[in-house]
Amino acid sequence: MLLEIENHKQKNKTFLQSAQKEAFNQNGFIILRDFVQPDVCELLIDRAKFLINQFNPNEIKTIFSTKDQRHAQDNYFLESGDKIRFFFEENALDEQGNLKIPKLLSINKIGHALHDLDPIFNCFSRSHKLAKVIEDLGITHPLLAQSMYICKQPHIGGEVTCHQDSTYLFVKDQPVTGLWFALEDATIENGCLWAIPGGHRTSLKSRMLRKSDNQIKLETYDETPWNLNAMVPLEVPRGSLIVLHGLLPHMSKENTSEKSRHAYALHVISSNFEYATENWLQRSGENPFLGFL
Ligand code: FE2
Repeated sequence: MLLEIENHKQKNKTFLQSAQKEAFNQNGFIILRDFVQPDVCELLIDRAKFLINQFNPNEIKTIFSTKDQRHAQDNYFLESGDKIRFFFEENALDEQGNLKIPKLLSINKIGHALHDLDPIFNCFSRSHKLAKVIEDLGITHPLLAQSMYICKQPHIGGEVTCHQDSTYLFVKDQPVTGLWFALEDATIENGCLWAIPGGHRTSLKSRMLRKSDNQIKLETYDETPWNLNAMVPLEVPRGSLIVLHGLLPHMSKENTSEKSRHAYALHVISSNFEYATENWLQRSGENPFLGFL
């Protein structure tokens, strides 16, 4: 109901001013504060906690304790494109696959089809105002390719090293667009995003390829290290949306604070451009990528 009212209020509104579109083209990102109402942030956080509570880690215990651990974990990841799967923080499990810390504090992220499979995230991800932002950026025939709920847990939330999203979801000619929602305040202390302004005006450094035998291979085109000194912190209050160009170098540092940093991320592509068959995330003909509807 809350989400339906939000959607109704925003119908037919245009969101991005020309200065914001210019800023996106110039910097490779824009920050839209107060994009998500606080009670909607709470709704999404509560829903994620509900899903984590429902999840039984024993179901996948073997994946994380098997002798062929790397292969089993790769498959668990590779098959998650049309599922809701749970990924642990590093060191959250012991060698037998048992949780070392409470379940709610052990999850790194939930991925990668919340937007299609969970009714709350589906409704949120397909809001009219989000569709307008994508339309304002000139993306026609949009498709929602993947979603992630990222917990960035207190004390143990791991670093995400500098990367371009196009490394993982490659689309020729029109790079993927990332939509990153801060559901809690994102600060330097709890591991906010960092990015290199204008860094999207470069080429793609690497691609993660899914080979025919389902092995993952990183193909590197440019070995030059990222200029991490050019990174600026994107500290934002809860409810902010950060729109990210697919070639923008960005990262997040460890969360060493006692506060979590929950965020929800969506990645949007266009059916006008060819989605690479070597991308790790593939959908079958029976279960294709869907738009905003
Ligand atoms: Fe990213």
